[in-house]
Amino acid sequence: MKIPRLLQVVLIFVGIYVAFKVVFGFVLGQPIPSSLLTMYMFFVVAGLFMVFTFTDESTRELVAPIKALVEDPARKPVRNVVFIVVPLLAGAYAFNVMLPDFDAPLELRSIHPAPPSTVKIYDQRYDLSTLENPLRKFQKDDPQKFRLLVAEGAEVYIRNCHYCHGDKLDGNGPYAQGLNPIPLNFQDIGTIAQLQESFLFWRIATGGPGLPDEGAPWLSAMPVWENFLSEDEIWKVILFLYDYTGHRPRTWEQE
Ligand code: HEC
Repeated sequence: MKIPRLLQVVLIFVGIYVAFKVVFGFVLGQPIPSSLLTMYMFFVVAGLFMVFTFTDESTRELVAPIKALVEDPARKPVRNVVFIVVPLLAGAYAFNVMLPDFDAPLELRSIHPAPPSTVKIYDQRYDLSTLENPLRKFQKDDPQKFRLLVAEGAEVYIRNCHYCHGDKLDGNGPYAQGLNPIPLNFQDIGTIAQLQESFLFWRIATGGPGLPDEGAPWLSAMPVWENFLSEDEIWKVILFLYDYTGHRPRTWEQE
């Protein structure tokens, strides 16, 4: 019995695919990465079509079963089944591809990435190495005013930040468990105690989207606060973070 040419193409294709999988995967123990295999199989398909459509006659023979399926009245039941099953399979494949993937990304994430030297916040360029908290001077100069600013910072915090960073600033807010990476714990000596106020200003104003590449692949949920808070409010909430935790911001002089 002569095998129809279309079936020959399919059989050769499947045969080569299985051979690649078996030879590399099981015999050599070195599976081919799927992106590379896709590329190989693309060339296999291109090669097969070149060979099987070499003459007009061979082309006709190749497409004859497809033509018959679409045109032959006797094939109507088969045609109906094929025209239902193929779109369903394509739909199922597309649906699977679209399902979200909850696995952690493979890349390592840097928790405190090096900040860019200058940043654009509120449409203004800031040099992070010289930027200072303009309200910090009141701690010495006018302690009463300073207490007031800290209290205002606390208000900003409770309104906006405690959902994630927690009402004790320990990173344990009601939303925290749903997030990965988790909101940072400001009580921990590994976070704001190690940082300068300008670093915090940058991180708070530009949030997760403002992270450079080495901090970015994990899709931080930290919002972009320059869209919601004034510059003044960000400096006040920073005063509050240090005041409440008892940490001191890192400064250039200490280093
Ligand atoms: C939707 C949850 C969420 C809210 C609300 C939120 N944060 Fe965050 N924040 C995060 C997450 C998650 C991280 C850790 C990932 C990262 O560094 O971006 C983070 C990181 C930070 C950092 C970086 C600390 C470090 O050690 O690098 C600072 C500072 C910060 N948040 C301050 C704030 C302040 C201030 C507010 C309120 C104005 C706030 N956050 C509100 C989720 C949140």
